[in-house]
Amino acid sequence: MLTVALPKGRIAEETLAIFEKIFNQEFKFDNRKLILERGEFRFLNVRNQDVPTYVEYGAADIGVVGFDVITEKQLDIVDLLDLGIGKCKVSIGIKNEDELNWNRPNIKIATKMENITKEYFASKSVGVEIIKLSGSIELAPLVGLADAIVDIVETGTTMKENGLKVAEDIMSSSVHLIANKNSFFEKKKEILKLFSAIKEVL
Ligand code: PRP
Repeated sequence: MLTVALPKGRIAEETLAIFEKIFNQEFKFDNRKLILERGEFRFLNVRNQDVPTYVEYGAADIGVVGFDVITEKQLDIVDLLDLGIGKCKVSIGIKNEDELNWNRPNIKIATKMENITKEYFASKSVGVEIIKLSGSIELAPLVGLADAIVDIVETGTTMKENGLKVAEDIMSSSVHLIANKNSFFEKKKEILKLFSAIKEVL
């Protein structure tokens, strides 16, 4: 039995569609159910940010999660495969009328990606004050909570609708398949079989 942690929402749907193609049967979470069992697989419906936690602790053998989350969490897992879905960028966003002033001491950045932000600004030798938020990050500069944000940009609609623009891209991301280190050792055959089947579908 392989336990697979999937992030709620669109990525879960796209990933289950890959499994539907491989096994030629329906894979869908019923209503508010958080576990889906199909033959040799058990899928867990978890929050995006929590996927690496389930995998690192071994509650899930494998997981599907954005490379941005893997980078942010800096966890000890096996990064198996880039699924090429959920492509987006992690970018610095500012108000349309502003310019990013690198000389300003302690730029205030609102983000849920604390580590990525810290590392990026450190690489530029610029001091930064991080204001940690959990969502609706785009709001922060609009109400004076922060000078800029570091957040996911996929279509760019959220920034545009809120009068923000991209000042700089930090990294590209897409959805990856990850594995728990012990599971990868103990269930290598099953995991590699699935890995090949997914690769074929992609
Ligand atoms: C994410 C991200 C941006 C938005 C970007 O938010 O934090 O707000 O999507 O997508 P876009 O460029 O296609 O508009 P999400 O919808 O996950 O909600 P959140 O604000 O709760 O993080």
